[in-house]
Parts: sequence; C-alpha cells; structure tokens
Amino acid sequence: MSTQRRDTIAGGFSETASDYDGAVRYNLEGAQRLVLSIPPGRYDDVLDVGCGSGWATQAVIDRFAPARVTGVDPSEGMLEQFEAKLGGIEGVQVSLVQAGVEDMPVQPASFDLVVCSMAYHWFQHRWDAAAAMARAMRPGGVIAILCSGKGGEQAYRDVIADVEPINYQWLGAFDGNLRDIPEMEGYLVQAGLDPVDIWMERRVRHVPVEEYMERMRVVAGHIIGDPSQPEVAEWLAKVEAKMRERSGPRGWSYDFNKLYAIARKP
Ligand SMILES: C[S@@+](CC[C@H](N)C(=O)[O-])C[C@H]1O[C@@H](n2cnc3c(N)ncnc32)[C@H](O)[C@@H]1O
Repeated sequence: MSTQRRDTIAGGFSETASDYDGAVRYNLEGAQRLVLSIPPGRYDDVLDVGCGSGWATQAVIDRFAPARVTGVDPSEGMLEQFEAKLGGIEGVQVSLVQAGVEDMPVQPASFDLVVCSMAYHWFQHRWDAAAAMARAMRPGGVIAILCSGKGGEQAYRDVIADVEPINYQWLGAFDGNLRDIPEMEGYLVQAGLDPVDIWMERRVRHVPVEEYMERMRVVAGHIIGDPSQPEVAEWLAKVEAKMRERSGPRGWSYDFNKLYAIARKP
C-alpha cells in the first residue's frame, strides 16, 4: 500500500495504480508506436523513465530483447504494478528505482536506449529532465519520448472552465503540461542531443462520458482530488452533466494530440 500523499503527482498515480492499465489503454498503443519508431539496432541497456506499470518496457522487450532494463518512477504504487507484470520476466534483468527523473540515481553514460512514454508532460522541470536523461545515455545512444501534445483536450477544458467553483489548478494543468514540436526540439538540443524525428499525432476520439471521466480520475487524481469527499463528488457530477449535454450520437468527442520525439547522443 502506498504511503505517498494523493496531492503529489507520484502520490496521485500510486492511489490509482491498480486501475491504470484498464483506464488508459491508449497509452499502451502509444508506447508501442513509440517503440516501433526507434531506429533498428542493438540496445542492451535500456532505461525507462516514468516507467509506470511498464508498457513501454514491455514494447521494448518485445521488439529489441534487451539484456537489462531499469525502470525509474517516483510512484511506489506504479512500481508495484510494474513488478507484478514484468519483475519475473525471463531473459531480461529488470531493476526498479523509486525516484524522479531529476534526481534518479543511475550511472552516467550507461544506457543504449532511454524511453519515456507519457510521463514527460508531468515533469515539472523539463530542461533538467532532458539533461538528466541525456547524461544517462552512452554516446551513440537513442532517446524516445512520447508525451501529451499542445492543442488537445480543448472540449474538456471548455467544460471545466464552465463549472463552478472554477478549478484553476486543473485548468492551468493543461497549459503547464502540453507542449509543441519546437519546445521539445529545444529541450533535446539544450541537453546536447541531436533530434532525429519529432512529430505530432492528432486524433479525434469518441468515447462514453464515463470512460473519459475514469481516465481523468486515473491520470489526474492529484489535481481532481478525492472523489469520496462530498465537494469533489459534487464538482465532478457537474462536470459529467455538462459533458453529457455536449455529447453527440457517438458519445463524448475530443481531440487528443501525442507528441513523439526520437534523438541521438553524439
Ligand atoms: C501516465 S503514466 C505513464 C506510465 C508509462 N510510462 C506508460 O507508458 O504507461 C506517468 C508516469 O510518470 C510518473 N512520473 C511523474 N512525475 C515523474 C518524475 N518527476 N520523474 C519520473 N516519473 C514521473 C508517474 O508516477 C507515472 O507513473
């Protein structure tokens, strides 16, 4: 059982870790597409930063059969999910480290591949994060990042801007989290990496309102708060009602942008 506080990012993810794989299946498919985009090669030592329940690591194992994988994540609950899924996997030595990207205790220049799937947008120090990941890479090594991209989720932002009391933290989180291609290029170049390919994937999804609400509960519990508290439950009920009003025949429709980046260490 996690002892982390719900109001930290890692604590929020710990709180909902056992529901993560069920609620956020798009992250599995994204991790697979990210890993398919890595240049062919031999990657024996792999670092998965913000490894969560291990989807990116699973995709790397399936494609590249590395010898050793290190997963780093500050969330105890997510690491427990990772351990349960991949801890006993044969043919790969798996190490898990409970730490944030900014202060992860990994050896410099010791990884052939760094993957970071759907975690970068939660890092509060993006420049430092890119520098820390670059330090961990061997010369010639590759980094593959996938995160939420600018321009997505506008329909939901419009709903929460319209529900009182206004949740300024939640509204601001979108501006704090979402980035575009030039910003990602800046992080990588500043960290001394050579960008190879950076692209945005834009899609429109149609889902039942309750499926969307569940995804938000699982990935943003630290911002939304504890739904067992009456004032949080009341606020969520108002959000849900407004989303239903604005849903169409295919349910709740929303844009989601995924930002991908591949870079190499010279
Ligand atoms: C949406 S999950 C993604 C998990 C997994 N990589 C995937 O593809 O499904 C985001 C993860 O980032 C982690 N995280 C948040 N802040 C972090 C930080 N500063 N350093 C490293 N990981 C962090 C969270 O604990 C969570 O497990």
